[in-house]
Amino acid sequence: MASQKPLKSLLGSKNLKGQKKKKNEAQRFYDQIADVQPFMQKIMGYRSSLAKYLRALKLELDESAIALDAGCGTGLATFALYSAGYCPKVMFTLDISFNSLRVAREDFHKDKHTKRNKIEPVQGNLLHLPFADESLDFIITCGALEYVPLDEGLGELARVLKPKSKMILIPVLPSPVSAVLEVIYKFKAYSTKQIQETASRYFYKVEKREFPVTEPIGWSKVLFIVEKR
Ligand SMILES: C[S@@+](CC[C@H](N)C(=O)[O-])C[C@H]1O[C@@H](n2cnc3c(N)ncnc32)[C@H](O)[C@@H]1O
Repeated sequence: MASQKPLKSLLGSKNLKGQKKKKNEAQRFYDQIADVQPFMQKIMGYRSSLAKYLRALKLELDESAIALDAGCGTGLATFALYSAGYCPKVMFTLDISFNSLRVAREDFHKDKHTKRNKIEPVQGNLLHLPFADESLDFIITCGALEYVPLDEGLGELARVLKPKSKMILIPVLPSPVSAVLEVIYKFKAYSTKQIQETASRYFYKVEKREFPVTEPIGWSKVLFIVEKR
């Protein structure tokens, strides 16, 4: 599973410099709310809820893995992975919002599960990931693909993932609640059918898992485990 490549060779030339200077809508929005996001997620119990579920999944994510949290925001999925006991060699946390990355970085340095680990925040676009083809061992992405065209987003994530490696996809579950969130957070939830059909173009074993109804994360999200072709 381990990549023997030096980290520098994993990072390709694509980054925000080559793209439009103007902030996109999601970037502007998440830059504005970055400081309140961790507080809201703690109140809602999302982090501990997701950690509990990820622990139960017994993921193949060992200490030699190069991992990515794509559209990490203020770090929810990364915090959940580390507090569930996973500890990859490197975790890249990528987001388009600089302020979200700043808040995440400050919190990674304080949290007992993350502070001693190698976590590398990267400002970038999900649609132009700054990683070489087939360079990553594991990806998690939670609530971020809703901001990009699904086929392009999944295709780009598949490009950087090694064959047979796994991705945990945690999209928003379409529901009356998500319809309200769509307006507030300015995203578009995809149906389970759309996700399964689109993911099947790049991944096999697109397994859908429901969160237990008692878990707050399950009130708005669903989970898929997919494996790269
Ligand atoms: C609903 S938040 C989810 C954040 C985090 N994964 C979580 O579960 O709390 C969506 C995140 O996607 C990011 N995002 C939106 N479009 C993006 C893009 N094209 N590239 C990278 N990140 C993007 C936003 O900045 C925001 O942080």
